[in-house]
Order: sequence, then C-alpha cells, then structure tokens
Amino acid sequence: MSERKKATLPSLFKKVADGHPISMLTCYDYPTAVLQERAGIDIILVGDSLGMTILGFDGTLPVTMEDMIRHAQAVRRGAPNAWLIGDMPYMSYQPSIETAIRNAGRFMAEAGCNAVKLEGGIEMADRLAALVRSGIPAMGHLGLTPQSASALGGFRVQGKGALQAKKIVDDAKALEEAGAYSILLEMVPDRVCKVITERAKNCFIISLGSGPYAHGQLLIYHDMFGLYPNFKPKMAKVYADAGKVIQDGLNQYVAEVTGRTFPQPENWFQMPDEEWTRFCELLEEKR
Ligand code: KIV
Repeated sequence: MSERKKATLPSLFKKVADGHPISMLTCYDYPTAVLQERAGIDIILVGDSLGMTILGFDGTLPVTMEDMIRHAQAVRRGAPNAWLIGDMPYMSYQPSIETAIRNAGRFMAEAGCNAVKLEGGIEMADRLAALVRSGIPAMGHLGLTPQSASALGGFRVQGKGALQAKKIVDDAKALEEAGAYSILLEMVPDRVCKVITERAKNCFIISLGSGPYAHGQLLIYHDMFGLYPNFKPKMAKVYADAGKVIQDGLNQYVAEVTGRTFPQPENWFQMPDEEWTRFCELLEEKR
C-alpha cells in the first residue's frame, strides 16, 4: 500500500462533505496500530476500553492517565498518519476545567495525539469548550457512556424512549455549540442517530452500534476479531475469529513441548564442530 497522507481535520471534513464514510477503530498497541495504518483506517481511538480489553478489569473506571498515555504513545509509533484520539479516562476531566485541560494537553504533548474524546452531554460542555479554546480538538461521546454505566443502569441501549432520545439530541446540540468537531453516538437507536446526523452542521457523527446514518462507523478492535473473551456485544461484527486461531496455536505449542516435538533444528542455533572441540578443551583446562 502506498504511503498515506496524514489525516487532518480539513481532510476528515472534506471526506464527510464528499459523502464518503469515515472508518474508525479502537487500538491499544504498536503491532495492531501498524496493521490499522496499513489498512487505511481514518481515525484511531485509544479507548479507555483498554481497561477491559487489555488490562482485564470489568469496566473502564480503574484506567489511569498513565495507562492511557503509555498506550497512546505505542499506537502513535505504529500509526503515524491516522487521526489519533486519546480517550480521557474516568476523573481526568470531570473534576474541573483545569483538570480537563491539563490531562488533554498530556495526550497532545506526550503521546502525539490529534484530539481527545470525553463522555457526557450538556454537563460536560464547559470542559469541552475550554479544551477547544486551548487549541485541543475534542470529540463528544453520547448514548451509552461507559464511565457512567452505573448511573445509566448498565451497558444498555440509550434513547429508546422519546424523552431520553430528545435529551440526547439536545446534548448533541450543546456539544456542537461548545465546539466539538465530532460526536460519537454509542448504542443509540438508528432513527435518533439519523436525526442528530442530519442536524449536525459543524461536526460529524460517528456511530458505534447506532446504525448506518452517521458520517462514520466505529468498532472495538477486540470485538471484531474475537479477542475479548468475556462477552460479544450485539453490535459487533466478528470479521475473523483470531482468538480461536491463537488459542489453537497455544494448545498446539503446549502439546508439542510436552510431547518433545518442539523445538526442531530450525528453531535453535548450532556451533561449528571446530569451535565445539576447542570449547571442550577449554573446559578441560579449567578443571
Ligand atoms: O473506550 C472506548 O473504546 C470507547 C468506545 C466504547 C467508544 O470509548
């Protein structure tokens, strides 16, 4: 694949204006970032979902800024050209505007991110506006916002009822007015996503399980490839069961080591005979 150009806000908005959907995936490590970059993914999100997919917690709340920066740096090294978003972890922006600016700034300065994402609607609009004023592009996140899963009653569809749907539409408007260049809608009914997409003037909408009408689509990488063992969300399409391929390989490795069929000569290194003879002599001299 030929070297791609660096994604920029103008290039992303042009894609949207030309009617081309935006592709977005989560990513947390260097080798996966290399593959995603080669595939031409437009936007990579270093999501705090790494708390579950990489660190094995049962939610995202334990994830720290240090975790996020470390993984975002690795992803940036593997994907120098994709638009890279650092996901603001729990309590890295909720306490105050200043906290939000300081932590978002770390994603930009220490990890080479192009933007950050934060969860929440009108109640977080002041944080988002302050980031934008500081020169940090910010993406909003509405619908199922995992950091508030407890308040939302778990990992479930949001906006099925008319009142809740109206609230999400109002939140999207507030975030756009605050300067969000994009809003992620997670697990919102397709018709509500369509309304928000049609009303968006200065920002583009990305869907995660919210249907086909958005300007772009996001999937969680580990769901796409059967790499998260605990559950598979309904909205995820499994493109290949890499988890099974890896499990089969691991089972075979254990069997081969146990059965002494691994390693074979091509898996180890040999010494020339004359060096071996000399080596044995040296050992004898020492005794
Ligand atoms: O952390 C993440 O990967 C996310 C997605 C669930 C949108 O925020």
